[in-house]
Amino acid sequence: MKKMMLLLFLLWVGGFASEFSSPNGRMTLSVFVNAAGEPCYRLTLGETPVITTSRLGVVLKDQAGLADRFAIVHTDFVQTNETWQPLWGETRQIRNHYNEIAVTLQRDEPEQRRMIVRFRLYDEGLGFRYEFPSQPHLGYFTVTGEKSEFCLTGDHTAWWIPGDYDTNEYDYWKTALSRVDAFRGQSYGEIAVKTIFAPNAVQTPLMMKSGDGLYINIFEAALINYPAMHLLIDQQKFALTAQLVPDACGNMAYLQTPEKTPWRTIIVSRDARDILASKMILNLNEPCALAETDWIKPQKYIGIWWGMHAGTMSWNMADTGNIKLATTEWSKLRPNGRHGATTENTKRYIDFAARHGFDGILVEGWNVGWEDWFGNWKEEVFDFVTPYPDFDVVGLQKYAAEQGVRLIMHHETSASVTNYERRLKEAFAFMKQHGYNAVKTGYVGRIIPRGEHHDGQWMVNHYVRVVEEAARHQIMINAHEPVRPTGLHRTYPNWLACEAARGNEYNAWSKGNPPEHETILPFTRLMGGPMDYTPGIFQLTMDHYRPGSRERVHTTLVKQLALYVTLYSPLQMAADLIENYERFPEPFQFIKDVAVDWDETRIIAAEPGDYITIARKARHSDNWFIGAITDEHPRVEAVKLDFLDPGKKYVATLYLDGKNAHWERNPMVWQIRKGLVEQGSMLKLDLAAGGGAAVSLLPATAEEIRTLKKLK
Ligand code: NOJ
Ligand code: CA
Repeated sequence: MKKMMLLLFLLWVGGFASEFSSPNGRMTLSVFVNAAGEPCYRLTLGETPVITTSRLGVVLKDQAGLADRFAIVHTDFVQTNETWQPLWGETRQIRNHYNEIAVTLQRDEPEQRRMIVRFRLYDEGLGFRYEFPSQPHLGYFTVTGEKSEFCLTGDHTAWWIPGDYDTNEYDYWKTALSRVDAFRGQSYGEIAVKTIFAPNAVQTPLMMKSGDGLYINIFEAALINYPAMHLLIDQQKFALTAQLVPDACGNMAYLQTPEKTPWRTIIVSRDARDILASKMILNLNEPCALAETDWIKPQKYIGIWWGMHAGTMSWNMADTGNIKLATTEWSKLRPNGRHGATTENTKRYIDFAARHGFDGILVEGWNVGWEDWFGNWKEEVFDFVTPYPDFDVVGLQKYAAEQGVRLIMHHETSASVTNYERRLKEAFAFMKQHGYNAVKTGYVGRIIPRGEHHDGQWMVNHYVRVVEEAARHQIMINAHEPVRPTGLHRTYPNWLACEAARGNEYNAWSKGNPPEHETILPFTRLMGGPMDYTPGIFQLTMDHYRPGSRERVHTTLVKQLALYVTLYSPLQMAADLIENYERFPEPFQFIKDVAVDWDETRIIAAEPGDYITIARKARHSDNWFIGAITDEHPRVEAVKLDFLDPGKKYVATLYLDGKNAHWERNPMVWQIRKGLVEQGSMLKLDLAAGGGAAVSLLPATAEEIRTLKKLK
């Protein structure tokens, strides 16, 4: 190691690029400063360039930036090879194996300001971040831009959504980088707040495929005290440059040394499955920060929710506008007859959850303020502690506890975040007092403080503050409309899930999510962490609720089952109305059986935008589950059960698209096949257009081995 450092030092003094390899030699990183003193790097996979010479640096306000006139003064090299156990996740163990190169740069100027670029080179890719050590001439500083470049070798195909400071609730485009136009197709008004800022801007995670079959994913890890990173595309040179989300004053980040940025990440493989299997984002996050974690529980839940999106129920109790939180006499408002969160309705949901083994029941619209919650950019909308007169918090808490289930709290902030922060402690104390241990938060609308964005530094810090405060109260979080996750659930495992993408709800009231949508999400949004996508819709056409409506879920019913496996989350909703589960008990059995926490995950087949097949083994159990999904094309998927335990027999239950199933023409038909399988058995899964397949593999009892036939 010493010898190596000496060698590197000599190389740098001589002005050459220094090369480093990943632990198995697969990736090579070159680092150097160019003639202008700009820090540069290059990345190759085997012999294939992934990132060509790209510059690094940050731009500062009222002083020269940290981007040029640098010399390398020092380099540290460390190898790490460790394994750790996530509290919950897709696998029981995670290996963290990398070579780290920390390059200290000093600027040629009287102040001699220093910056460190820390690279972690994995066999699957690269992470790097900027660090600003304590030093005489850098204390408080304001970042106004970041120069991180990712220069690509060609006009790669990209699965992208528009760069936007406030929302990620778009469906994906697939085009060459040169054809990206962020404003294209943005005439529809179904997203609450959109702030697209340039035609050539896209969001991260950005998934790409090169002409010669390289899959490249660019993202970030451990986003703390900094704005989210989007990318600007040079559409002639195919160079991507970081674009940070500004604040109300046009600045990006206010920092004080010592400080560091999030990691910028590049994950790369010739096999798309490796992108989904990568744990690099989690590895780049800090270990768990919570002393006690036994109160954190992965879970399935139902809720008084889809009815509001389908239009049969309302969040608000009364049909009146112009409510004032402080003075409105809620008990005098006349109920509109469609209020979802009534005591009676909630009892029905509690009964159902207890009967079918769900842990939680989300109830939205339980608290006063929904009459004019949206669109007014109003500060005082909700207080998070006052129930509507027709919702009996105390009685329902008792009723739920008696049945061994829990209500899940809902805090829609309507993006009035100042209001929420003022009331947060009281709101969490109220939850504890009434037996709630999980909350779905929400940020629909334009942010207050006015001028801030959902993905800027101020809000990034807010989401973390909420998660930390929640942890102090032993409360789990599911955040809707936050910045997209960057693996922080390793550090804060009470942050079970986020929305931060276009969820199933869009199918209820907009042009919806195209059949390929769920095959893209794992390669993009899910790279940073679990999503509360809310699968499990069985009544797929909305004309059932709104005669004449053409809105619909763009999948078959069986594909909704498969999503429980293909869209990983420790928090999964069975999102449909309970009436619909009562109508279709056979496929509902899969939702009841499927696990939400896993010991093992096998990515069997995957191509972004086309298909995904995944098998997972439930945590502390011998049960396996398989989910297979396809886009708008039918597909046959062959799965060899080589992962089952040798010598053991399993009962396989196959939930398959029915005869002539088709997401648009005939979505609600299925067939179920059951039989014995063992290690090495082959399953042939026929997926309809926009369809899927779901399989449970449960160890067979002696009785089942006697009575069931081999699956054919
Ligand atoms: C948007 C969330 O995504 C949705 O799930 C929720 O029902 C509404 N906001 C109301 O809070
Ligand atoms: Ca949403």
